[in-house]
Amino acid sequence: MASKAGKGLEGVVAAETAVSDIDGLQGILFYVGYDIHDLAPNASFEEVTYLLHNLELPNASQLDEISQELASDREPNDLVIELLPRLATDSSPMSMLRTAVSAASVQDPDGWDMGAEANYRKAMRLIAFFPTLVAYFDHIRNGRDTIPPDASLSQAANFLYMLKGDKADDESARIFDMCLVLHADHTMNASTFAARVCAATLSDIHSAITAGIAALKGPLHGGANEAVMKMLEEIKEPSKAGDYIKQRLANKDKIMGFGHRVYKTEDPRATHLRRMAKELAEKTGDGTNYEISEIIEKTVMDEKGLYPNVDFYAASVYGYLGIPTDLFTPIFACSRVAGWTAHVREQYADNRLIRPDSEYVGPDPRPWVSLNDR
Ligand SMILES: CC(C)(COP(=O)(O)OP(=O)(O)OC[C@H]1O[C@@H](n2cnc3c(N)ncnc32)[C@H](O)[C@@H]1OP(=O)(O)O)[C@@H](O)C(=O)NCCC(=O)NCCS
Repeated sequence: MASKAGKGLEGVVAAETAVSDIDGLQGILFYVGYDIHDLAPNASFEEVTYLLHNLELPNASQLDEISQELASDREPNDLVIELLPRLATDSSPMSMLRTAVSAASVQDPDGWDMGAEANYRKAMRLIAFFPTLVAYFDHIRNGRDTIPPDASLSQAANFLYMLKGDKADDESARIFDMCLVLHADHTMNASTFAARVCAATLSDIHSAITAGIAALKGPLHGGANEAVMKMLEEIKEPSKAGDYIKQRLANKDKIMGFGHRVYKTEDPRATHLRRMAKELAEKTGDGTNYEISEIIEKTVMDEKGLYPNVDFYAASVYGYLGIPTDLFTPIFACSRVAGWTAHVREQYADNRLIRPDSEYVGPDPRPWVSLNDR
């Protein structure tokens, strides 16, 4: 029987990586040696993308180059554009993203070239067009015209522009950029592992990223941020938050946005997201969700000793930025695709098939029984 410690591969080192590292006891997250507390207030998503893929921070001309590369590849290819109206009618945004990325492989300009340079270009294209898919999807499902990307804007500002039609104010664009920075990578999380397992069979990068999206979609992973907003909406009033949480815990329900496999203290990303949620609550003059969140945080800590993870305050931040709830997880993907693609390229560069064992717990060997005798 698989030991309890082995269940869910807890504590198992599944890959060597230079992309990111976590100290779960101290609550520290590094991207290529840089502390997330330094990156969040200082780096743009473009800088972080360069860092994850090149393992060094860019100089000014390298940053300019990657920013232009991302800005020029934002338009999805024809096949995806043709599919979007159908997907916008029939699927959730995460299912759309999963399907669209898979479909995008068919028309990628580098075709099925698996060389390192082709894969770098494919990675940049994927990072570039994810936000466009999400924004286009939202307009199409609401019967509105899509807003083409603006190459003069950063990834963060352009997404808000494509989604809302107005250029975001500097503070909102910076906050959203910081959200992208905070979500860009996180060691061997379930979706990155899924992407690396797929890549390790030497399947193509689009397939690996499709696997990553599929894993991120679940509520125990990226889907948690959407579930948090639904919980805030259900609670509605700060005065009801404490009892609501106690009742849910008494029912043995999990409180979304809390707990983590690796962090045994505060998730360092939550520190920034809490601050941003507070700032936005003050800026918008609508403190309800922030107030409810504070009470939930205190109650879960008192009752279960659990800390909020990245998804808890991200929900309030996205809500305050006016982003529809079911786009929260796709936005997570718009950022994490930077990390997924970096990990997939790292896997290709030093590959070995990822193929763990299992512990058999079925019946002992037994004789075949023919159909008539069953
Ligand atoms: C993130 C998560 C999947 C990690 O799971 P894990 O490492 O397998 O931890 P477990 O689910 O085994 O939880 C360990 C214990 O803490 C409890 N726990 C963990 N997260 C909890 C939560 N969010 N609410 C209530 N209890 C929780 C479990 O019930 C379990 O208690 P038990 O030992 O009494 O049975 C888990 O904490 C969770 O489901 N959180 C909610 C979903 C979420 O926010 N996901 C986003 C992660 S960034």
